[in-house]
Amino acid sequence: MNQAIQPGMAVEECVAWLKRLHTLFRDLHLILVGRITSEPCFELKTAFSLHAWLCAEQATALRNRVSELREPPLGLDLPPEPGLAWALDELRAAPGTALFCTALYGAVLPTLRQSLVSYCAVSQPLADAPSLRLVRHALLDLDDMLDFGRRLLLGWEQLAPPPCDPSLASTWTGELQQAFSASGLLAGTHRPPGADPSPDSTIARQPPLPARRFSQTPWQFDPLPRRDARFRDPYNGGVNPEAFLYDPAFLARDKTLMLFYKRLREIDVPEMMASILVESRDKPWEFLHAMTRQLWDEARHSLMGQVGFVALGIDWTQIPVNFTWSLNLNTQLTAQERHAVLFFIEQGLMPRTGKRFEWEVAQQSGVPLAATFQDFDWADEVLHAQIGREWYVTDFPDLNHALAYGDRCWSRVMSHWREYLDQGLTQHHNWWPDVYRQACQVWNTPPDPGTLAFRENYSQLRADLKEFSSSD
Ligand SMILES: [Fe+2]
Ligand SMILES: [Fe+2]
Repeated sequence: MNQAIQPGMAVEECVAWLKRLHTLFRDLHLILVGRITSEPCFELKTAFSLHAWLCAEQATALRNRVSELREPPLGLDLPPEPGLAWALDELRAAPGTALFCTALYGAVLPTLRQSLVSYCAVSQPLADAPSLRLVRHALLDLDDMLDFGRRLLLGWEQLAPPPCDPSLASTWTGELQQAFSASGLLAGTHRPPGADPSPDSTIARQPPLPARRFSQTPWQFDPLPRRDARFRDPYNGGVNPEAFLYDPAFLARDKTLMLFYKRLREIDVPEMMASILVESRDKPWEFLHAMTRQLWDEARHSLMGQVGFVALGIDWTQIPVNFTWSLNLNTQLTAQERHAVLFFIEQGLMPRTGKRFEWEVAQQSGVPLAATFQDFDWADEVLHAQIGREWYVTDFPDLNHALAYGDRCWSRVMSHWREYLDQGLTQHHNWWPDVYRQACQVWNTPPDPGTLAFRENYSQLRADLKEFSSSD
């Protein structure tokens, strides 16, 4: 009652503050997405995917809340105000992963957290209860992100030399804080009773923004996928796991190796989807939100593959995890064509021979973790096919036209299998026998000679077992 009898912020003030929080979550989402493809470190690639989705979830919740607060026109898709724009442009343009993460996890997210905590402290708990619930939920997600960031930065502190210049990092993050204060983010626009009633008075009194350090030239998305040193031989197309998976001659237990490989390889999907999202940033927010959920799911599927190999006691870094799908799509197709290929592939996973088949194989395999992962992977893919029907198929007269276009786009993508070999980028080494032998040791069974002899590669067949129609 002591809290409830106090007056609080006006609706107008709440809306201004919530909008600022929304802008920050919305833009951080796309800043993180923009880093996924070119970030080599697997843990950061997947963390950026998760954190981008968490930001998208919070931005969506804030949009919905603002729309409840007597606020048409909403103005939620407007560019940020100058202070926030300055800070976000600088963060987006940060050169190098270490400087970016130092600013994001060491300054920007802590500032955002402080703003959320301040909001909870000053908004009227009864009158503004729906916003307060939302802000407290945002804090849960934010604290997960900050926990990850704290451990990351703590690990980097032990490194000599440090991964980025500490004095540059501290000067620059100070400038970011200055820009956030100028934007009024930290304290919203809340004024004690009797203060200057002009809504912009807090902002107007702030010092001018520092000179731009990294964002003088606009940031450019880098479409080339990069991987860390554990991902060796990324041009390798020496094993076709689909050919193994659909061959009834092989055991379900052995097929789990190909299932985990296929899951791990899915890190190429976020690498590709990031390029669609960045190029489609002016599309409706609902599109960006749905596609970001899918992007995180695909990163999660990749983590399932990694975890699956760890659970089996197999060193996954021995296996070449190919990146030519994201490389070729990002460099050969437009955003709409890439989306077409994605939808065509995911729709192809829906019939009995697709995700249900993978789940049945996993169930028969005697590897319970594979069954759990394939079960949820299947559920996720059903959701992705729905997202495709809502956001891609609607551009076509019907589903068949949409599918035919996706098939055509995929056929146009040059696999360059032969060129990679000729250029010495890979020998297309057949890695299957070594991995299979390692698994047989773990399972304490002798390798089956027929299974050991599997040597189907990607020279002729693409992943849906259709022939490439391109020259190679
Ligand atoms: Fe997937
Ligand atoms: Fe998917």
